[in-house]
Amino acid sequence: MKSAVQLDEAYWRGRYAAHQTGWDAGAITPPLREYFDQLGPADARRILVPGAGRAYEAEYLHRQGFSEVYVADIAPEALQALQQRVPDFPATHLLHQDFFALEPAPPFDLLVEQTFFCALDPALRPAYAQQCARLLKPGGTLAGLLFETDFGLSAEPPFGGTRAEYRAYFEPYFHFVHFETAYNSLRPRQDRELFICLKKK
Ligand SMILES: C[S@@+](CC[C@H](N)C(=O)[O-])C[C@H]1O[C@@H](n2cnc3c(N)ncnc32)[C@H](O)[C@@H]1O
Repeated sequence: MKSAVQLDEAYWRGRYAAHQTGWDAGAITPPLREYFDQLGPADARRILVPGAGRAYEAEYLHRQGFSEVYVADIAPEALQALQQRVPDFPATHLLHQDFFALEPAPPFDLLVEQTFFCALDPALRPAYAQQCARLLKPGGTLAGLLFETDFGLSAEPPFGGTRAEYRAYFEPYFHFVHFETAYNSLRPRQDRELFICLKKK
């Protein structure tokens, strides 16, 4: 499957300009808040939230005292929203970059996934798994949520999928610590998303 629409910077900037941001939960989501609450400072020093959008997860981590939280997004509007809400978030940690062009210099301990994978052209899914592994230290973690649902045929995101399909992308690079339906999803996403915690091989 390949997206019929080019999902480039202009596309995403257009979504923000048109206020078509239905993915935006307006706050950190419960599965990620619960996951972050059990992290110790030594578990995750360098953290990246790719395709972060307005980045409530990065804000939460920052307020919890994690000092090396980075966000990457191709839409400057998304990064500006975080900067305006959280003026003390380090400006140098706001990366206006394509996820696939990011360099692991130095690599990250933790990557956070939420409605980024489903926003990408499905043809890029193998490259997403590979780039996540490339950006992480050995033993580093990819944690977050993947929609396990069928959104029907659509030219535009979100794009759904199955657990079996997802497993095949991540298996070459990751050990599966957790890969189950989330029990604490936001109500509209209930029973439709997997909570994943994968460790880089
Ligand atoms: C569906 S939104 C999700 C935002 C956020 N993760 C959330 O849950 O609210 C997808 C985001 O990914 C960004 N994006 C899309 N393709 C990207 C790419 N190749 N590199 C970096 N960001 C990208 C878009 O600009 C948008 O902000």
